[in-house]
Amino acid sequence: MTGRLHDKVAVVCGAGQTPGTTIGNGRATALLFAREGAEVLAVDRDEKSLLETCALISESGGTARPLVADITDPSDCAAIARTALDAFGRIDVLHNNIGIGAGDAGALDVTEDAWDRIQSVNLRAPWTVCRQIIPHMRERRTGAIINVSSIAAVCSAPLVAYKVSKAGLNALTHALAMENASFGIRANTIMPGFIDTPMAIEGMASKLGMNQDELRAARDRMVPLNQRQGTAWDVAHAALFLASDEAAFITGALLPVDGGQSARIG
Ligand SMILES: NC(=O)c1ccc[n+]([C@@H]2O[C@H](COP(=O)([O-])OP(=O)(O)OC[C@H]3O[C@@H](n4cnc5c(N)ncnc54)[C@H](O)[C@@H]3O)[C@@H](O)[C@H]2O)c1
Repeated sequence: MTGRLHDKVAVVCGAGQTPGTTIGNGRATALLFAREGAEVLAVDRDEKSLLETCALISESGGTARPLVADITDPSDCAAIARTALDAFGRIDVLHNNIGIGAGDAGALDVTEDAWDRIQSVNLRAPWTVCRQIIPHMRERRTGAIINVSSIAAVCSAPLVAYKVSKAGLNALTHALAMENASFGIRANTIMPGFIDTPMAIEGMASKLGMNQDELRAARDRMVPLNQRQGTAWDVAHAALFLASDEAAFITGALLPVDGGQSARIG
């Protein structure tokens, strides 16, 4: 441990993960934040997975509190801020990792229900959490917000509701960065490309009726850098940098973590 988040309190929304053989982006980030000295409020609606994340943090000597919450419920979002403040006394970092894509389709085929569900989880919910936590950060005149978007926001993508939600999240990041700059609060976005997480592999393979190894190989081939997908640790290390004081002069950035996938569009 090098203590890059020493003395910081971090809220990680989506700290559980879809079951699978690899590690998810939110769990890896929660583990890395704790390893670097942060006290972590770990939030997820999946209690079993959330408790696994917290147990992993405890086993490695870190500090984590679990909070089971549905991010689409405004009263649960209020509970996130309240619980973090009750448990740790302040909030320095808010990491919005939660994102879904199930049920998505092309613009003419996606159902209204799927559209609303995806916008609600991927865009409305992080906005709601921010509105609960930013007043506290403003009082302390410090804070770092990290939103996990996707390169789908800026690249051609066949799943329209997901793409639009993530493009909206990028725009929200810009708005948050500008509205809160004079309060010393930074807001940045990570745009992952193909990352080898359970949601992307186990989830998509069963949806597409594909073998997992074939899906992995197909995704690997589409990444310019070494023809290999990233791992959740690549996303977690970008989040660690943006959460830390090393990024003190960085706000409003949209950072691709994608092995060069988005560089194709210039
Ligand atoms: N894996 C990739 O290739 C990839 C690529 C681009 C972007 N992303 C983004 O990275 C993020 C995490 O992806 P992942 O693959 O690690 O997913 P994951 O499924 O492993 O993690 C997401 C977590 O969010 C939780 N969650 C979902 N809905 C919730 C709700 N309403 N309330 C509370 N918790 C809820 C789930 O229980 C899960 O633990 C997402 O925002 C995703 O869009 C992933």
